[in-house]
Amino acid sequence: MCGIIGYLGKRNTADVLTEGLKRLEYRGYDSAGIAVFHNDRIEIRRTEGKLAVLEEMISKESFNGATGIGHTRWATHGRPSDANAHPHKAGRIAVVHNGIIENYLPLKRGLEKKGHIFNSETDSEVISHLINDFIEQGLSFEESVRKALHELKGSYALGIMFEGNQEKLIGARNESPLVVGLGDGELFIASDTPAVLNYTRDFIFLEDGQMVVLSDGKATVKDLSGKTAKAEPRHLDWNPLMAEKGGYKHFMLKEIFEQPEAIINTIRGRVSREEGTISFENFSLKKKEIDNLKRIAIVACGTSFHAATVGKFMIETLAGIPVDVDIGSEFRYRDPVIGKGTLVVVISQSGETADTRAALREGKRKGCLSLAICNVVESSIARESDHVIYTHAGPEIGVASTKAFVTQLVALYLLALYLAVGKGRVDARKVQKLLAELIRIPGLAKDLLRNASDYQKLARKYAYARNFLYLGRGINYPIALEGALKLKEISYIHAEGYPAGEMKHGPIALIDKEMPVVVLVADDDVRDKVMGNIEEVRARDGILIALASANHQEVRQKADEVISIPQTTPLLSPILFTIPLQLLAYYVADFKGNDVDQPRNLAKSVTVE
Ligand code: F6R
Repeated sequence: MCGIIGYLGKRNTADVLTEGLKRLEYRGYDSAGIAVFHNDRIEIRRTEGKLAVLEEMISKESFNGATGIGHTRWATHGRPSDANAHPHKAGRIAVVHNGIIENYLPLKRGLEKKGHIFNSETDSEVISHLINDFIEQGLSFEESVRKALHELKGSYALGIMFEGNQEKLIGARNESPLVVGLGDGELFIASDTPAVLNYTRDFIFLEDGQMVVLSDGKATVKDLSGKTAKAEPRHLDWNPLMAEKGGYKHFMLKEIFEQPEAIINTIRGRVSREEGTISFENFSLKKKEIDNLKRIAIVACGTSFHAATVGKFMIETLAGIPVDVDIGSEFRYRDPVIGKGTLVVVISQSGETADTRAALREGKRKGCLSLAICNVVESSIARESDHVIYTHAGPEIGVASTKAFVTQLVALYLLALYLAVGKGRVDARKVQKLLAELIRIPGLAKDLLRNASDYQKLARKYAYARNFLYLGRGINYPIALEGALKLKEISYIHAEGYPAGEMKHGPIALIDKEMPVVVLVADDDVRDKVMGNIEEVRARDGILIALASANHQEVRQKADEVISIPQTTPLLSPILFTIPLQLLAYYVADFKGNDVDQPRNLAKSVTVE
């Protein structure tokens, strides 16, 4: 939901900003802009369209200032247009903003009465006017920002420049992420660390209600009363190459191919196969705490919600603890019956999703213990939870989540096993067996990826279809949902995922000879039931694309297409079923010429409600 960046240093400012914005484009890409100093004046360049349009616009210009801010937008207030693109400038103040200012209308009305003229439909423009109003009253840059922040209601990550001082840059955060990069003689602010990983791996992660003043070669973090706040820098071990395409056509494809390694990274250091034990760096519960757990509520959005639903099967099967799963935006408003004795598990790749974060707060408010499963280190959700299990998938840049999802499944499997051990439901021998199977998964995932060209052929054959149906049962029913979501979000083909048994209660009416039906046939207790569903599709002339283990002869006779899935235990099968579905969606979208990494209307890291 919008990416912001700021720079203070000796490099070519416009280059640093546009390079950084490239790495933030996953957060929004309907317009882009920068503000830089040139001959002591703030110059704004901004345009509707993707960053490439802005780059072209400034390609022949050079700016001689050492300070700048930049923005890539995902529209909330005001359609994508040049005028609504950031930065917004009022008088001597330029601002980039990620978030939503809820009280912008009364603020705007008040400022208009004082003679301020607004040029955009955005909520963000009010911030620049408000700060500039205080500047004109004679307050210092810093004081003006502070006063303005006191008046804002809503969420914001801000980068702010003042024409009166090109050696100073101010950032501020409330409910939208902002990191401060500490380079060698240079300083950065950004929505996310990959934006500046090329320059530094040392970061301060701002808290809500904090601002940071970059000047004199140092970053000073303050609270809104102006008091200096303690801020410990953290060194990240993500390397900048992780945020590059590395020869792949799209980030999404690269991230799909990174999955075997990502899975290894999720497991690494957490299991002992010899001893049959599981441990986490930032999460442990005493036996009594586990025994006292009455239920677990897992909350997430989108793809992470699908992981949550798989997690329910894993935890209930292995640990025998009842699990509810909820979508973040529903959970936060439905007054869930939870409290002491409930473990709230929130799952989020970005760790910034507003609805998931609100659900976490709701859980904490009601006295629940909380655990986050997150990918982004030091993200808001990771920091606000009592405990955190990082998935260690590395930066995920493609908007459609892939490697984050499979590593969430692995983390949930480990969590389920950990709880099962704690409850005494599995002995060391059983754990050893379950871990041995998990350790096979990266190799099996690699085998699947070797068949990528088969999925590509299949994708081309069916890319014409207007609708797809995905069916799965039991633990693979959420994978049917995920397969459908992947396809629709990047190929724009309408797709529905269903528990296969539900088909006859409605969706079966959709099936005809034009309709590809993707059926997941796992080697589990419901396999025969799924075969029954296959018959139902056949009887209505649907095109059957089955995913099944290589030795499943009956499926081969009945389906039009078969994708072979290596054999594993039912609990781990969702990981393997996911991979061909990701590639199928990817190749369909690519074949259609879509912008796979930046699908229309979407943005990664949904920091607004
Ligand atoms: C789909 C996708 C989204 C996210 C959702 C939650 O491919 O990426 O559905 O899964 O927006 O995001 P996180 O996991 O960052 O909370």
